[in-house]
Amino acid sequence: MKHGFWDERWRQGQIGFHLGRPHDWLVEAAHRFPPQARVYVPLCGKAVDLVWLRDRGHEVIGCEFVARAIEEFFREQGLEAATEHRVAGRGTPFECHRTPGLSLLRGDALETDPDLLGGPVDVIFDRAALVALDPACRTRYVDGLHRLLRPGGHVLLIAFAYEQSLVEGPPWSVDAGTIERLFSDRFRLETLAVRAEEGSPRFQAAGVAAMEERCCWLTRRD
Ligand SMILES: C[S@@+](CC[C@H](N)C(=O)[O-])C[C@H]1O[C@@H](n2cnc3c(N)ncnc32)[C@H](O)[C@@H]1O
Repeated sequence: MKHGFWDERWRQGQIGFHLGRPHDWLVEAAHRFPPQARVYVPLCGKAVDLVWLRDRGHEVIGCEFVARAIEEFFREQGLEAATEHRVAGRGTPFECHRTPGLSLLRGDALETDPDLLGGPVDVIFDRAALVALDPACRTRYVDGLHRLLRPGGHVLLIAFAYEQSLVEGPPWSVDAGTIERLFSDRFRLETLAVRAEEGSPRFQAAGVAAMEERCCWLTRRD
């Protein structure tokens, strides 16, 4: 999905994905994060997970391309940010909004590179990020995650699966087989939890009664 689609969703306040509290599976898996880890949160929206991770002593870097999401984040968290301009390797401009322990990059998460993030990260927290991207972008996105992560680093992935033929995303369906196909050649996969979730009203209207939410801990092999 392109920037205009998400910009409009944020403008209209159609952000049913926003939880307003740390994700319970992040809280449960947090003991797995190395102390004082550098944590990257792609497609971060205004997730309070960002501050929760920062408050646990991690250095957190989020990426989000909708300006309103970033403004709402800093306003709602009562944080002041200094802004600087950066350019990723392929010449893509990013705005970096920095506050101690936490930086939000405004720009396209498909264009990030390790230098832009200040070096490789220890953990990537993907909640509703892979599922938000057009399926055609998945391989590029996963290649990018692999590049951003240090060898032995981890991805905490939270994704949803449902009968894709009933309705179009986002969120797009990412089932266990898709995760295996995308990651298993370069990552060790561990499933931490699976549960049924109620679909949004749009999904229910399309006949999607339940979605499967899955949490995986992926470790970069080399
Ligand atoms: C489904 S939301 C998830 C937000 C967040 N992870 C959470 O759990 O609340 C996806 C977010 O990614 C942003 N987004 C979508 N595509 C993006 C891209 N290519 N680069 C940066 N942000 C993107 C959207 O604006 C939206 O805020």
